[in-house]
Amino acid sequence: MHIDFYMKKLLKDNGEGKSVRMIDMIQKKKNGEVLTREEINFIVANYTKEEIPDYQMSAFLMAVYFKDMNRQETADLTMAMVNSGDRIDLSAIHGIKVDKHSTGGVGDKISLIVVPLAASVGIPVAKMSGRGLGHTGGTIDKLESIENFKTELTSSEFISNVNRYKMAIVGQSANLTPADKKLYALRDVTSTVDSIPLIASSIMSKKIASGADAIVLDVKVGSGAFMKSIGEARALADTMVDIGRSLNRKTIAVISNMNQPLGHEVGNANEIREAIEVLRGKGANDETTVALTIASYMTVLGGAFPDFDTAYQALEQIIQSGKAIDKFKELVSIQGGNPEMIDNPDKLPQAKHHIALKASQDGYIESIHAEQIGVAAMLLGAGRKTKGDIIDFSAGVTIAKKVGDRVGMNDTICILHTNQASHDEAKAAALKAFKIGPNKPEQMTYIYDVVQ
Ligand code: URA
Repeated sequence: MHIDFYMKKLLKDNGEGKSVRMIDMIQKKKNGEVLTREEINFIVANYTKEEIPDYQMSAFLMAVYFKDMNRQETADLTMAMVNSGDRIDLSAIHGIKVDKHSTGGVGDKISLIVVPLAASVGIPVAKMSGRGLGHTGGTIDKLESIENFKTELTSSEFISNVNRYKMAIVGQSANLTPADKKLYALRDVTSTVDSIPLIASSIMSKKIASGADAIVLDVKVGSGAFMKSIGEARALADTMVDIGRSLNRKTIAVISNMNQPLGHEVGNANEIREAIEVLRGKGANDETTVALTIASYMTVLGGAFPDFDTAYQALEQIIQSGKAIDKFKELVSIQGGNPEMIDNPDKLPQAKHHIALKASQDGYIESIHAEQIGVAAMLLGAGRKTKGDIIDFSAGVTIAKKVGDRVGMNDTICILHTNQASHDEAKAAALKAFKIGPNKPEQMTYIYDVVQ
């Protein structure tokens, strides 16, 4: 049914004999007033049903962007989005189900590492992950670079795998938080993504709808993240921890550095290769530290360890003992993938062309703009410009030199992997990402803060 959004129909009675219209909600937010739970439910439910048009929702989102939402409004928006679709029932899984979520980064392969790590100490992880869009990668795409790996399981397979092996990773079910899907697509084209209440409710609604009892959030900050400053990241972390608490979910947010790509690999198959390295105890320091930190909080929330330090040491030991990589291989096997690719990562998809980019001067790597590297990887075929694009699993970027490394003129700073014959645009994006200067920068902090 089409609705005359200016004047005509009343979509709902507000209980005082007065009708509620979307234009009134927009005006209220534009004036900085606080919306009630009923008003928020009205907006989300009717937008999901397509009874509120995109142009009114766009105006509303922009009003939220400028006038903000308080904690109660943000929690109400979260629950309205949860209630817009299915909720996953994980009650048949024994134990405290722990989930994690990253706000999005470049080279972020942390889920691939923490799921087998947490599962190897008996914490059930029933993980629903997304695909990549634009410069950020998605766990599901990365896993699909392993031959025959199934990212769709029936709900009984999903639950029985988590009960038996303590882990499963699948793509998000189609009807999980449909309001968020519609809103996210609209935010993407109306410059309203980077609003704290909108990001917080988007992330937390997906986590609540997918049935987690406890949640560890990896809030990324820096050049490859939505949050560019630590202050903004802290505000987002506080908001999400607050929502989790108000909805009875134990929630911890780790604020981590995204001022350069995480680890050395950005892409799909090459990120699987790097996750294998970390699980074998041979990973880059930044990647390993962030993964162990997230996994430690997951296992503490799940009740496997009394505190963070004990968990961290035990998980380091699990990596050293070879149990962590065995658990990842088990994950691959139980989801139909070819486990030989884990024993021998050279069997993962390989690109035809490998183009080494060289330093134009002597000095130190001062910074690597993570988003630019993500864009270069996407242009090489590793990511999607638009939703329907097909991914080339073998494409990506290897970061040969990280921030703080000394380079001589003509040293290789990164390698582009692609099957495409033309790669000038990607080359320009990758070269632009590297800043080389005369001074050695300070050692980067990997974890800025933890909010709990
Ligand atoms: N990730 C999400 O799931 N939603 C946002 O709004 C931003 C990052």
